[in-house]
Amino acid sequence: MVPGARGGGALARAAGPGLLALLLAVSAPLRLQAEELGDGCGHLVTYQDSGTMTSKNYPGTYPNHTVCEKTITVPKGKRLILRLGDLDIESQTCASDYLLFTSSSDQYGPYCGSMTVPKELLLNTSEVTVRFESGSHISGRGFLLTYASSDHPDLITCLERASHYLKTEYSKFCPAGCRDVAGDISGNMVDGYRDTSLLCKAAIHAGIIADELGGQISVLQRKGISRYEGILANGVLSRDGSLSDKRFLFTSNGCSRSLSLEPDGQIRASSSWQSVNESGDQVHWSPGQARLQDQGPSWASGDSSNNHKPREWLEIDLGEKKKITGIRTTGSTQSNFNFYVKSFVMNFKNNNSKWKTYKGIVNNEEKVFQGNSNFRDPVQNNFIPPIVARYVRVVPQTWHQRIALKVELIGCQITQGNDSLVWRKTSQSTSVSTKKEDETITRPVPSEETSIGINITTVAIPLVLLVVLVFAGMGIFAAFRKKKKKGSPYGSAEAQKTDCWKQIKYPFARHQSAEFTISYDNEKEMTQKLDLITSDMAG
Ligand SMILES: *[C@@H]1O[C@H](CO)[C@@H](O)[C@H](O)[C@H]1NC(C)=O
Ligand SMILES: *[C@@H]1O[C@H](CO)[C@@H](O)[C@H](O)[C@H]1NC(C)=O
Ligand SMILES: *[C@@H]1O[C@H](CO)[C@@H](O)[C@H](O)[C@H]1NC(C)=O
Ligand SMILES: *[C@@H]1O[C@H](CO)[C@@H](O)[C@H](O)[C@H]1NC(C)=O
Ligand SMILES: *[C@@H]1O[C@H](CO)[C@@H](O)[C@H](O)[C@H]1NC(C)=O
Repeated sequence: MVPGARGGGALARAAGPGLLALLLAVSAPLRLQAEELGDGCGHLVTYQDSGTMTSKNYPGTYPNHTVCEKTITVPKGKRLILRLGDLDIESQTCASDYLLFTSSSDQYGPYCGSMTVPKELLLNTSEVTVRFESGSHISGRGFLLTYASSDHPDLITCLERASHYLKTEYSKFCPAGCRDVAGDISGNMVDGYRDTSLLCKAAIHAGIIADELGGQISVLQRKGISRYEGILANGVLSRDGSLSDKRFLFTSNGCSRSLSLEPDGQIRASSSWQSVNESGDQVHWSPGQARLQDQGPSWASGDSSNNHKPREWLEIDLGEKKKITGIRTTGSTQSNFNFYVKSFVMNFKNNNSKWKTYKGIVNNEEKVFQGNSNFRDPVQNNFIPPIVARYVRVVPQTWHQRIALKVELIGCQITQGNDSLVWRKTSQSTSVSTKKEDETITRPVPSEETSIGINITTVAIPLVLLVVLVFAGMGIFAAFRKKKKKGSPYGSAEAQKTDCWKQIKYPFARHQSAEFTISYDNEKEMTQKLDLITSDMAG
């Protein structure tokens, strides 16, 4: 035990509840810092009615003398399903090292050591407090837990591999948050994945589900192939894999064809580059060369400086409104030109609307896609939900040496792949996304970055204050809760470890039907509406 770490708690215990609350409120920003020091929680992602949680350093050894306590909830009226993917806590008695679940009606655990632990718990509440505590130990991975509401009885954890299942066809529910859990996948969305690959991570890689949402996956098991080619997609790197007996594929909604681009006239750019080759001839890196399937150099921007704000773009006109579910990009593809785009955002519009930026569902912020990491290999990113638009722009944010791109859009006609889940996002006027439609399209986008910057700060400062206040409030709430719980054997230590307490909040409540609205303040123009149709979410 580290005496210093407990000092604050002992002081707090000696004081009355009123003084304690005051202390907590005043020291709220300090508490945040202390949490990071003593916090035994690791990876944590939650979304509406599912999520993933691990102990610190998982699957490495969790720290000595640490606590992780979180309250997880699913929408009211639903029951919680907890699934332990892994439990490895070094203790035989569960006295100082344990995992414990406490709901309003029941207690599950404490679990530790080599005891048999239920793989799945179906609670009869929608809320549970997860508590993990460690004393002094040498080894132990800790735990990996996934949860979902009872709407998803086929919940699996992030650690399930296709080789765990015998059926040739099955459907499972992946929780939010499996992307960053350690574990390999081999293969790709076209040829399939080696059966030793993690199912949920592969589904994120394939663009079937988004990491921040989770969702239903439909799996087909097939005979293996001799080699599995890896590719970077949706922030997940799959490795090359060798021969296996079996492989698996995901059933898709049929909206993953290449939206082939007609020669010329359909691709434009903010600028382009001309280089001189060894025989003294000019080589034009024009926008027309941005087609991924074509040989030769890519499109490259005229300006190579690395320190200006992103304002170059590559624009594709699909001729009519289409459903775009993904994009594949490469860099220059020329070994003597080590140019590639490391990250980008997507803009899109229709005939007479303004440019909008593709945003994340969870935080409603501009979504920055992870692009290429070399000049040669293609990288795929998927749009969940898809973009429905006629014009799209790839707007590079960071790049290596010079912006150079080849692209291929993936999608289908608007009437195909109809999963008829409609997400209606209504952009507010401050939205970072809206840019003036430029009349002189060949000119770089007028620099609006400065005004955008101000908008962000005016929103961000009150937000930070609000968060601080909420934390202070939670601190007070926690303090009273802990006082009440003193009788419980596993609750008594809590008061000494208030700095490890956190509560999970959900970005927004679940809506009852498949169709719902994410709305932001004032909506003035119908043209600012962005109608998106979710793709594979219903599997
Ligand atoms: C469900 O909750 C009630 C109390 O509300 C409790 O008596 C009962 O044992 C619980 N059932 C299960 C299966 O946990
Ligand atoms: C915990 O502390 C003991 C002795 O102080 C040390 O041997 C051990 O390596 C520590 N464990 C971890 C996981 O840091
Ligand atoms: C330079 O470019 C010209 C015209 O595109 C081509 O004919 C020639 O082969 C190129 N030379 C080299 C060394 O690549
Ligand atoms: C958009 O413009 C094209 C021609 O430029 C036209 O064929 C198409 O019908 C227009 N679409 C809408 C929705 O107005
Ligand atoms: C697409 O979904 C809508 C709404 O459910 C339905 O009315 C329409 O018939 C569907 N279209 C196709 C081509 O499946």
